[in-house]
Amino acid sequence: MNYLAIDFGTTNSIAAILTDDRQFIPITFENGNPIFPSSAFIQMKESSAFPITKDRIEARFFQEKQREEVKKRNQLDEVKRRLDEFSRAKTPKVKKPKPVDFIAAGSQAFLRAMRTYEKDLDGLDRRIRDFNERVVPQERVRLESEIISVRTDTEILRQVEMLMSKEELERRSAELREFYFFNAIESDDFHVLLGHKAIDAYVADPLSGFFLRSPKAFLASTLAREYQFAFVKIIGFILRTLKERAESLRGTQFSGVVLGRPVEYLGANDDAGNRRALNIMTDAARLAGFTEVRFVFEPLAAALVSPGDWNRSGATAVVIDIGGGTSDIAALNALGNDRNSLEVLSVKGRRVGGNDLDQAFAFQEIGPSIGKQSLLKGGMTSPSELINWALSTRDIIAQNKFRNAGDQIADLQKKCVDPVPIGRLLQTYRDQLQHRILLSSEEAKIKLSDSEIRNLHYDLDLSYFEEKVELRVTQDSLKSSWESELGKLKGIVQDCLVQGGVTDRPVWAYFTGGLSLSPLVRESLTSVLPANSLVKRLNAFQAVVAGLSYVARDLSRSGSPSDEPREVRGISVMRA
Ligand SMILES: Nc1ncnc2c1ncn2[C@@H]1O[C@H](COP(=O)(O)OP(=O)(O)OP(=O)(O)O)[C@@H](O)[C@H]1O
Ligand SMILES: [Mg+2]
Repeated sequence: MNYLAIDFGTTNSIAAILTDDRQFIPITFENGNPIFPSSAFIQMKESSAFPITKDRIEARFFQEKQREEVKKRNQLDEVKRRLDEFSRAKTPKVKKPKPVDFIAAGSQAFLRAMRTYEKDLDGLDRRIRDFNERVVPQERVRLESEIISVRTDTEILRQVEMLMSKEELERRSAELREFYFFNAIESDDFHVLLGHKAIDAYVADPLSGFFLRSPKAFLASTLAREYQFAFVKIIGFILRTLKERAESLRGTQFSGVVLGRPVEYLGANDDAGNRRALNIMTDAARLAGFTEVRFVFEPLAAALVSPGDWNRSGATAVVIDIGGGTSDIAALNALGNDRNSLEVLSVKGRRVGGNDLDQAFAFQEIGPSIGKQSLLKGGMTSPSELINWALSTRDIIAQNKFRNAGDQIADLQKKCVDPVPIGRLLQTYRDQLQHRILLSSEEAKIKLSDSEIRNLHYDLDLSYFEEKVELRVTQDSLKSSWESELGKLKGIVQDCLVQGGVTDRPVWAYFTGGLSLSPLVRESLTSVLPANSLVKRLNAFQAVVAGLSYVARDLSRSGSPSDEPREVRGISVMRA
């Protein structure tokens, strides 16, 4: 039976094999990259959405144009009515004096009035002509400018487009609100995208579905049965994609799988949590079509590919695997016997990794731009709870709270002195931008980690917010937002050293996992290693799967599952 090695990571998954002649072959995808993001996007199918087509815009434009014409006709009528009124009231006229009005004043006054009247009567025609030819047209121009307001075609078109996209957004958020991740995945109205396709679809149109990043992070928590099944399904789909790709590239079938496992699954407060996670992983692997499922601790797998010079040195090695969701550290001795066995001194793991750094950074540095501690009219500041819910994307309860917090955020906005930052939180709620913000955080981390140069800065592009934000990230801002998480990471390394009894001598420290690409993180962890330790780096993304492929090769070469070795070079191979 052939075994495929799969490192199903919180952030990234990779499959690989080791050939009989010890060639390590990662399974690559169309883009030549073996990294398959552990992400899924449950997207509403096109048929159930109404995309804003050109035809729909045109139809709406003509409708609006007709309304505009009716409006114009009414306005012209109004101008006419007001002009008639004006003419009636203002047309020059003269009043003929009546003798009865002048009895008291005597006839002299009457005669004077008559003379004025006759003079006025003389000029009346001219004044009426002037009124009609000059005053009335002037008044018409004034009334028209006051009453008539019609939009140009370009204005109508622009407004129609804006209106339609707003309506579409509202319609879709209302429609999506009837669903949530776990029933959408069961619904025929949705389809499932995985890996890079999932991330791209979410980034392009977050409102078209539900994004799940890091399914591995949910496995050990106490989940309702329907939730558990949803995870089995998603993970099963991802594993099946890797399996099928491996089979088509290698032209052979893989019925067994060797999966990495963290020492502690995220959310596992006890052994029961880890067992739950292993059961879900096993069910998912079966769903993907693997009949035999084996597990190896991730840092121990990485130890299997540590270079020979350590194996020969007789020194203790500490393997530090810092990934997206969990960090796992192992201390081992190389026994240097003919089987090249390793002796495991201690294995420690904790649910803290790159995702937590991203969340901490987003909270501290992006938070103020989305209404964290915004000044309220009464002098207080806004509560941070809403931001916390938004950014806790790996916490189902927090996400549900955030999804129901629309009114609360809108209320808070009314109380803010500056409504703009909290407006972005409202937009985050409306457009489901929570993951988008964390992707920005990750982007800052990666951009600033790729370089050893200090004081470098990076300008984050947060242009998905309608209200523009400019955010310059520096090494210092990263470091200060990571302080508490870095403390936890150092704690695990120290625990592992203490438990393995290796605090008193230099070790060979091997770093792996995506987070080990960060000089800031490496430096921080190196500071707690025993003095004079040697720091080495294994391939950040492939060391674990390379070790798993070593085990997979051993298992593939044994006759049947029952004859399989239970350990490979002293490293245990487990079943769920
Ligand atoms: N250049 C980089 N600098 C810093 N961090 C990086 C870099 N590239 C990737 N990362 C981070 O590494 C993490 C992913 O690492 P990795 O692929 O080893 O994790 P994983 O195996 O998926 O997770 P886990 O082992 O915890 O289940 C992510 O948090 C990612 O942001
Ligand atoms: Mg990993």
